[in-house]
Amino acid sequence: YETYNAVSDKTLKGKLVVVIDTLRATSVITTALVNGSKEVIPVADIEEAVNLSYNFDKDEILLGGERNAVKIDGFDLSNSPLEYSKDVVEGKTIILTTTNGTRALKKASSSDDVVVGCLLNVSSIAEYIQKEDKDVVIICAGTEGKFSIDDIITAGAILHKLKELKPYESDDLSKASYFLYESFKDNVLDIMKYGYHLNRIEKLGYHDDVEFCTRIDMFSIVPKYINGVVKIC
Ligand code: MLT
Repeated sequence: YETYNAVSDKTLKGKLVVVIDTLRATSVITTALVNGSKEVIPVADIEEAVNLSYNFDKDEILLGGERNAVKIDGFDLSNSPLEYSKDVVEGKTIILTTTNGTRALKKASSSDDVVVGCLLNVSSIAEYIQKEDKDVVIICAGTEGKFSIDDIITAGAILHKLKELKPYESDDLSKASYFLYESFKDNVLDIMKYGYHLNRIEKLGYHDDVEFCTRIDMFSIVPKYINGVVKIC
C-alpha cells in the first residue's frame, strides 16, 4: 500500500497494481469507459494533452481534466464523472490530465498489470485480484502528495471484498484501511466527509460528484492501463 510519490519502480515490477483516486480521476475513467468511451489516455501535463490531441481527428477525441479541481481552459470536459455521460463520450478517445490521479497512473507504468479502482467498481477489482493471483500493490493517488481518506476507504473496500473471495496477507496500512472501511461500510461518507479534498470540492459546488463517487459497486468493469492507454479488460 503506497502513495504514488513514495512508490519506486522496483517495487512494482511483476506486481498487480491497483491505482485509486476516488475523488475523482479513477471514478471519471471508470464512468467514461462504462459509458462507451473507446479509451482514456492519462497524461501528466496540459501541454502534453493538447499536443497529443493533434494526432487525432477533432471528432474522435475529447480533452478532459482539472487543475485546482476546476476545468482547464479550452478543454471539453472537467474532472466531474457526471459530465462523462454516454451521449458525450460514446466512441471517443479521452485525453485526461489531472493533478494527482493521472500522475499516479503514469507512475504505475513500470508494472504491466495495472488496473483502475474506485468505489464504483470495488467487487470487479477484488475479483480481478483473486483471478490474477499475484502480489498486489495498491497505489493511492492522495492529494498533492498527501494521504487522502477517500482513497484509503476504497482500498479498504476492495480488501474487504477480497477477504470474502480468498485468504491473503497484507501490510499494516492495508489492515488499517480494511478496518476503517469495516467501521464505516454502511455509510462511507460518515468518514470521508472529514477529508481535505472532499471538502475542497464540496466548496466548489461538486456535491453531486461526491455523492456519485461514493456509490459502491455501481459498475462491474475492470479498466486496465496498458501501453499508456486505459481500456476495459
Ligand atoms: C486528481 O487527480 O488530483 C483529482 O482527481 C482532482 C479532482 O478531484 O478533480
